[in-house]
Amino acid sequence: MWPEKDIEYSKLADDDQGAHYGLFREESLLSVLSLFIKNEEAQFRKFATLIEEQGKDYGSQLLSFVLDEAKKKGVKRIWCNARENKKEFYLKFGLFETNMRFERGGKCYIIMEKRL
Ligand SMILES: CC(C)(COP(=O)(O)OP(=O)(O)OC[C@H]1O[C@@H](n2cnc3c(N)ncnc32)[C@H](O)[C@@H]1OP(=O)(O)O)[C@@H](O)C(=O)NCCC(=O)NCCS
Repeated sequence: MWPEKDIEYSKLADDDQGAHYGLFREESLLSVLSLFIKNEEAQFRKFATLIEEQGKDYGSQLLSFVLDEAKKKGVKRIWCNARENKKEFYLKFGLFETNMRFERGGKCYIIMEKRL
């Protein structure tokens, strides 16, 4: 997620309120994603695959799984702060870009969402 930053940078005050998903190959954790559900809405955050394992479909499998899980849990709208360079990736999963954008840590983000 932020390989050049200290682990503290990735911690969130509400981490203990999230459901943290991981995709494993045998004992190795390859890809992670955290889901934060509030009523019928959910945000997914901290989506990342190990650099050397990217582009092998692991992230897609994990995201598809979590979208299904959110739906099963009664979530009606799921959203994320998408890095601008990942917009096309999320479009493939039926997320649409909203007109909300911001910058953090030198990266541009777009809020993207999907109705489940
Ligand atoms: C975003 C991220 C989690 C995706 O994880 P990933 O495991 O690489 O995801 P996938 O392998 O499923 O897909 C990545 C790309 O590889 C492609 N791909 C997947 N399987 C493939 C295969 N077998 N052969 C060739 N390409 C493949 C996908 O189509 C996708 O292409 P795109 O980026 O042009 O849309 C990963 O890039 C990452 O950790 N990035 C750094 C952190 C980050 O940006 N997080 C998201 C913040 S919004």
